[in-house]
Amino acid sequence: MSRYKEVYEHWQSDPDNFWEEAAGDLDWHRPFDSVRSDVGNGSTRWFAGAECNICWNALDRHIAEGRGDYVALVYDSAMTGAQARYTYSELLEEVCAMAVVLRDLGVEKGDRVLIYMPMVPEAVIAMLATARIGAIHVVVFGGFAAKELATRIQDAKPKVILSASCGLEPGRIVEYKPLLDEAIRLGLFSPDHTVILQRPSHECELAGQSEHEWYSLVQKAKLEPGHTSCEWVGSNHPLYILHTSGTTGVPKGIVRDHGGYMVALKWSMTNIYNVKQTDVFWAASDVGWVVGHSYIVYGPLLNGSTTLLFEGKPVGTPDAGTFWRVIEEHGVSTLFTAPTAIRAIKKADPQGTLLAEYDLSVFNQLFLAGERADPDTIQWAEKILNVPVIDHWWQTETGWPIAANPLGLEQLPIVYGSSCVPMPGFDVRIVNDGGSELAKGLQGSVVVKLPLPPGCLVTLWHNEEGFVDSYFSEFPGYYKTGDAGYIDDQGYLHIMSRVDDIINVAGHRLSTGAIEQVVASHPDVAECAIIGLADELKGEVPFGMLVLNDGVQRSEGEIVSEVINLVRAEIGAVTAFRKAIVVAQLPKTRSGKILRRTLKSLADGKEYSMPATIDNPGVLQDIEITLKNSE
Ligand code: COA
Ligand code: AMP
Repeated sequence: MSRYKEVYEHWQSDPDNFWEEAAGDLDWHRPFDSVRSDVGNGSTRWFAGAECNICWNALDRHIAEGRGDYVALVYDSAMTGAQARYTYSELLEEVCAMAVVLRDLGVEKGDRVLIYMPMVPEAVIAMLATARIGAIHVVVFGGFAAKELATRIQDAKPKVILSASCGLEPGRIVEYKPLLDEAIRLGLFSPDHTVILQRPSHECELAGQSEHEWYSLVQKAKLEPGHTSCEWVGSNHPLYILHTSGTTGVPKGIVRDHGGYMVALKWSMTNIYNVKQTDVFWAASDVGWVVGHSYIVYGPLLNGSTTLLFEGKPVGTPDAGTFWRVIEEHGVSTLFTAPTAIRAIKKADPQGTLLAEYDLSVFNQLFLAGERADPDTIQWAEKILNVPVIDHWWQTETGWPIAANPLGLEQLPIVYGSSCVPMPGFDVRIVNDGGSELAKGLQGSVVVKLPLPPGCLVTLWHNEEGFVDSYFSEFPGYYKTGDAGYIDDQGYLHIMSRVDDIINVAGHRLSTGAIEQVVASHPDVAECAIIGLADELKGEVPFGMLVLNDGVQRSEGEIVSEVINLVRAEIGAVTAFRKAIVVAQLPKTRSGKILRRTLKSLADGKEYSMPATIDNPGVLQDIEITLKNSE
């Protein structure tokens, strides 16, 4: 029997024993009373009764095993040329100092600490320090602008905000302080304290008693005695809130615990990612996304490996050889990135000629996620890198892969276009709208039979009703992933699209509803629809169709560019919203719902059939003409 099948069947036949064994790889201050307890509403609590701390397991555990001098974190900034290395002991010292800073600012167990930072080691230190004292971190992606940040501040009500004077993007400095000030004003909630890391590229002014400079507090904290203590928390105590796009404009605050998450991540590092303690693991993502939480920060450190934190882009910093330079320079064995990054490298260096300049002999595997990895991209990467290239599928909600090719167990045959097979813990099914299971090869909603395994979301922050509504009410007994796909004859899973209004732009999950909300706030816009237009590099980019108020006399081009700037200013440049047209009407069903799926087919130039429910078929023909004229 294949090793994967054997392990999957072990989980199926005795899930509690499976997870109990996995939990044995970690330290528990107090052992658990039960492996699993179902608490209704689709929720499962893992390792109830236990006391633990994920920070202890990520740092102290390795030091106690005599590995304090082993490198935990390598920082490489292609933006500034800076590099840094922290051993496990050095990282612990920085984390403890930051933990003291937070405690001195009044942060207690259960308080929220919001982290709005670029890709610098201090962001990782801040996350671990927050976890260490039992507080809850809320990391906000540095590419989000004031309004998105404001919603998260308002939802999490952080006692302290940790930020930096700036982020660095190619050709421009992103000043965080004005965005933060604006967000606090818009969010109508002020933290007790703000701590700012001053970066040499741009320093900002600090005002009043509540704004502090990062290193002056850290230096002071390092002089305080007994600063290494770790707060033991219940296994189900919240570790973090990570907001992700839902179908409405309001993001969902995914809540993750300490105990279940650390067990799942540790298991995945060896069995899925095939990473040893002596390996350097690089997730080229951002700490603001789930990939950053799970596989820049917690996963590799729980495994006792070296994690790499990279500030830069796959191309243009300075060229398409940057990834290969980083792999060689730091001895990376595993790279995890989004397919869009590989597409960007392929576009800039189609023959992979820059590779010849680097020695990639220790590099042995590439994992791709965040969007479906198209076969062309995988095959190109396989050819130039000569290592397994693995598409795998997961979501902010699950925290770790639902489906993958588990290289740590064995390499299964690669089927292009598939994210391979379900991982232990995930019983994946395909159902139709009525909830009936579909046969192999038929496409439908992808759902996971409950209970969800350790590591998955435990609730939505202060929104238990939304939690049940979003994930468990449509298909009772199952978790709804929001993705559509099918399982083929060999049992391989193919994830094809979303079933909702979420789009995926360069591996970033965005809500069309959130963009529509901003566009509709323009005084000349009566209504609008945002759809995801197919894009060769980014997978999808938002495309807007705007209906203007009656009597608007201004030029359409002027209004479109104002709308585009508004989205950039309120949500952020990361939306990559650059295209919109003005139309006379939007196609709707007779009950008034905008026919977004039909609009998408139209804009992508695909065949579409006239929806039976359409109110006025002429509207689609008018839009088709406007689209042709705008090309
Ligand atoms: N802070 C501020 N602005 C940011 C930002 C951040 N952290 N991240 C992105 N932006 C801005 C960029 O500067 C850019 O602004 P511009 O419109 O002024 O050029 C815009 O948001 C879009 O950025 P990006 O998505 O990075 O696109 P790009 O065109 O600059 O680069 C790729 C294209 C493919 C190289 C890039 O999208 C990429 O590296 N993608 C990988 C995605 C990824 O890691 N996803 C995580 C899931 S695993
Ligand atoms: P996020 O929560 O930001 O990680 O986005 C999760 C969503 O990205 C999923 O629900 C999918 O729609 C999409 N996605 C992520 N990985 C893959 C993949 N390997 N194949 C297809 N879609 C993916």
